[in-house]
Amino acid sequence: MSTGFGDDFKEQVRTSTDLVELISATVALVPNGRDYKGLCPFHDDRNPSFNVYPDRQTYRCWVCDMGGDCFTWIQEIEKVGFPEAVRILAERARLDLPAAWSNKGKRGPSNSEKSDLIAVVEWAVNQMEQSLWTGTQGQLARRYLQERNISEETIRKFRLGYHPEDWSWLLNTSRGRFTGKQLVDVSLAGERDDGTRYDNLVGRLVFPILDEQGRTVSFGGRVLPGSNITSDAKYWNGTETSIFQKRRILYAFDRARESIRKRKQAIVVEGYMDCIACHQAGITNVVATLGTAMTDDHVRFLNRFAETIVLNYDGDQPGRNAAERSVARFIAQDVDLRVLILADGQDPADYLERNSADEFQALIDSAPEAWEYKLQTVLSRYGITSVHGKQQVLNEMLEFLAVGPRLQGTVREDLILRRVCGLIQTDELRARRQLKDLRQRHSTRRTFRQDEEHFVPPDPVVKTGLELAERELLEIIVSCPRHTSYIRHHIGPDDFEQPQHRRLLELCFDLEEAGELPEFHRIVTAANSSAEILSLANSVADSAQEKGISELMAEQSADENGSDTSVPLHLERVLHPLLERRARYHTLQSTHKMTQTETSLSSLNSDAKEALRRIYNFRQGQMGNEPPSFK
Ligand code: UTP
Ligand code: MN
Repeated sequence: MSTGFGDDFKEQVRTSTDLVELISATVALVPNGRDYKGLCPFHDDRNPSFNVYPDRQTYRCWVCDMGGDCFTWIQEIEKVGFPEAVRILAERARLDLPAAWSNKGKRGPSNSEKSDLIAVVEWAVNQMEQSLWTGTQGQLARRYLQERNISEETIRKFRLGYHPEDWSWLLNTSRGRFTGKQLVDVSLAGERDDGTRYDNLVGRLVFPILDEQGRTVSFGGRVLPGSNITSDAKYWNGTETSIFQKRRILYAFDRARESIRKRKQAIVVEGYMDCIACHQAGITNVVATLGTAMTDDHVRFLNRFAETIVLNYDGDQPGRNAAERSVARFIAQDVDLRVLILADGQDPADYLERNSADEFQALIDSAPEAWEYKLQTVLSRYGITSVHGKQQVLNEMLEFLAVGPRLQGTVREDLILRRVCGLIQTDELRARRQLKDLRQRHSTRRTFRQDEEHFVPPDPVVKTGLELAERELLEIIVSCPRHTSYIRHHIGPDDFEQPQHRRLLELCFDLEEAGELPEFHRIVTAANSSAEILSLANSVADSAQEKGISELMAEQSADENGSDTSVPLHLERVLHPLLERRARYHTLQSTHKMTQTETSLSSLNSDAKEALRRIYNFRQGQMGNEPPSFK
């Protein structure tokens, strides 16, 4: 167990975090004795089976067995890695990240430089928001929004703003607070060749862009009809900066996150206004890409929260092209993607002007799967009246299927192939062969999801009587940690066969050896946010509580005058089968090994010999045998 700098900080973050409060942000918790209960966010839970233990600062679902501490919680809910979880919780607790932490695996500007830049954007967004509501020119923006039927409430929710028609408004107002360079660094201002600077969003309606942690990192600006500022580009988007990576960030994700997670569905639209119109209509699982095509990062990111992604791009040609490009990407990542293209070139905002949210939702829910959309597209492109057309359709569809690594050999693939071949009346077997060839060519270019660890809950089924004994011993340690020393002198982690049990035992022994009783809070710390270990520890603590292990242990100690050093009968009973197994195994092994070691010992150096000797003697001692004379 390392107690390095990072660990100290991690523990500081832990103690500054109230787990019940943290989890309450996502799960409605109700008190349940000393603990809290709620519907499990990790499986489709109907009866509250999710428990939060304030004493242990851990949580666990006894149905799906997901469990952990504040760090694993953030990792699961925000779908981030461990360092990021620490960072998020530190920020939440208003703790400054120590240098060693903020630089971990990071390049580019330091965290403090980044938060300075975020402060610049935050300040500017505030200014522009005020100028929309109270500025003399602000009413131009307000009138436009009114025409688009955007309510005051929505404007405030999305913190829309207005930049007056003044080329150095922000540069001037920020004086004394931020430098001109800082404004350039976040792309609020631009720089001419001669070094002079100008504001970027002049005369535009401004849409602040938040990152997944809810920090304002960039903005988009739309020209307003009737403005003196004319521009070829209807929208101007903040450029890539050290705090804004376009290929990762999706507009309104911070507002859509919970709804996406709950519905397990994300709707992706193209425009800011589409996104806002959907939210205003009560369809809240909607995000927008920011004037870029959907990237692999976007797909991967959304797929962490949603099972289904519905792409709802504009019905115009650029929208259709973008959709088709995205479809190829999705199939490569094996995501359940649906594509909805609205009739008559409408975008979602247009559609919602004329139709109800229910109608929109119905279209979303009946959107065809990506492959079906692809098929319709290629069918309408080439037609199937000519041989050439048929060949093109087949080629494109096979090419499309070939990049989907997980599609191979699935029912879905069968279905698609049959459908395509049926439509163009071609031999399915030949198509299959062609697909196989294509796959081979593609196999070198495959991309896999690498940044996600799939947590597989430990098998809760206890298989053997001995595994039960292992578990019962852990129950004893967890409920009566003071007996750990005794246990450690009779049994080693190697005596446990179930790997998870062994890890937990080892961890408790390490603690005991370091002079700390393995009390639950220490186990949590030492578990280093391993979800498996925490989950096991919680489930062991639960069953220990149910069985009343500590009472059982106390009762039997009292039989022997209640002295602390006495060995409770229950402990003896649990230890017995384990010691027996060990003894059986070791008599077998040591007679065998002794003969082996004797011959090979001469080739070892004296340190190794000494180590071996000590291990051997220790084992023998543990078994109650006299150490043999081992020369
Ligand atoms: P649209 O023109 O469809 O946007 O472009 P919209 O939000 O539907 O437009 P209005 O406000 O209702 O008229 C879709 C998205 O493409 C990007 C923007 O992100 C926009 O929201 N875009 C569009 C640009 O970046 N620059 C442009 O000039 C146009
Ligand atoms: Mn549009």
